[in-house]
Amino acid sequence: MKLLEIHGSRGASTILIGESLRDVRKYIPTEEVVIITDANVRHYYSKDFPPCEVIEIGTGERIKNLDTVQGIYGKLVELEAGRSSFIVGIGGGIVCDIAGFVGSTYLRGVRFGFVPSTLLSQVDASVGGKNGVNFGGYKNMVGVFNQPEFVICDMNLLRTLPEREISCGFAEIVKHAAIGDANLFTYLEEHCEKALELDIEVIEKLVYDSVVIKSSIVNRDEREEGGRRKLNFGHTFGHAIEKTTGVPHGEAVSAGMLVASALSAKRRHLEAEEAERIEALLKKLKLPTRLELDVERVLDALRKDKKRKGDSINLVLLHGIGNAVVEKISMRELEAVVNEII
Ligand SMILES: NC(=O)c1ccc[n+]([C@@H]2O[C@H](COP(=O)([O-])OP(=O)(O)OC[C@H]3O[C@@H](n4cnc5c(N)ncnc54)[C@H](O)[C@@H]3O)[C@@H](O)[C@H]2O)c1
Ligand SMILES: [Zn+2]
Repeated sequence: MKLLEIHGSRGASTILIGESLRDVRKYIPTEEVVIITDANVRHYYSKDFPPCEVIEIGTGERIKNLDTVQGIYGKLVELEAGRSSFIVGIGGGIVCDIAGFVGSTYLRGVRFGFVPSTLLSQVDASVGGKNGVNFGGYKNMVGVFNQPEFVICDMNLLRTLPEREISCGFAEIVKHAAIGDANLFTYLEEHCEKALELDIEVIEKLVYDSVVIKSSIVNRDEREEGGRRKLNFGHTFGHAIEKTTGVPHGEAVSAGMLVASALSAKRRHLEAEEAERIEALLKKLKLPTRLELDVERVLDALRKDKKRKGDSINLVLLHGIGNAVVEKISMRELEAVVNEII
């Protein structure tokens, strides 16, 4: 097992890579623990849950909203959960985002921790202290920065994941390698097959290296006032693609990284050959790189991006594989590029 620490402004978070769901009881109190999970995760893993109350939520991006949060508050009140309650989110990014938001707001905040059960949530969603829900058609519009006490990454949970969900997790690993670690990128290129088979040694290294990149960025800029923006590589386009096509987050980010790479190459920050390596790696990991897109709708979604400021938007571009920069781009240039690239 390997440990990493995030030092948040409101508390620290320990990420335990290679720890087991069965041992979660070592990290929680003996009483007043409430698990938040979804039906799929409960079906496969409730036998390994610690003995405590379980609140089950639905699945899919559409339930990541304030209605679901309100339903959970209601159940916590029914259970007479008090200030010393401890919430454990066991599930994918949706469960973790919601459990963290509930944990941070119920009774002005109670203790909470996560056991992420998808590859995407192990390498990304559960790490970094962003908790929140969608609102009014906008993704992650309402939320808080607050670190979970622990994040337990149990590789064995990944075995029941559908293939498509595994690939989505790899999209975020490629993102971390592309913005911060050229060696990790090469390792991924060389260990693709084993990675897709979830070979325990390979997957543990990939999750660890990925979390090293994310946690070191978050340790320098928890509240996304500077360097943390680099983690949005592929996401400005990705969110617009996700919204207009409804494809899963990781697939949209994969296609979004391709647009951002093409733009980086166009601005001569990235060699054409490097952009090709990124596309080839995503394809090997069974991710889409080009999707059928309605350019007008994508542009409309970009115009409504919550990170847009006036007539321009900050975009993450690559200065070579392993190195990212944030550059301002005018909406007019962005529209021209999208029309050309997509
Ligand atoms: N907070 C952050 O910093 C952050 C970062 C990245 C993504 N996110 C959010 O994460 C969400 C996506 O997370 P996700 O990709 O984990 O999706 P998800 O939570 O919807 O999980 C995907 C599917 O897999 C199922 N599942 C989960 N674990 C399983 C397992 N071990 N075996 C079998 N099935 C399992 C779930 O029930 C669900 O149907 C998005 O809402 C995104 O915005 C947040
Ligand atoms: Zn993402």
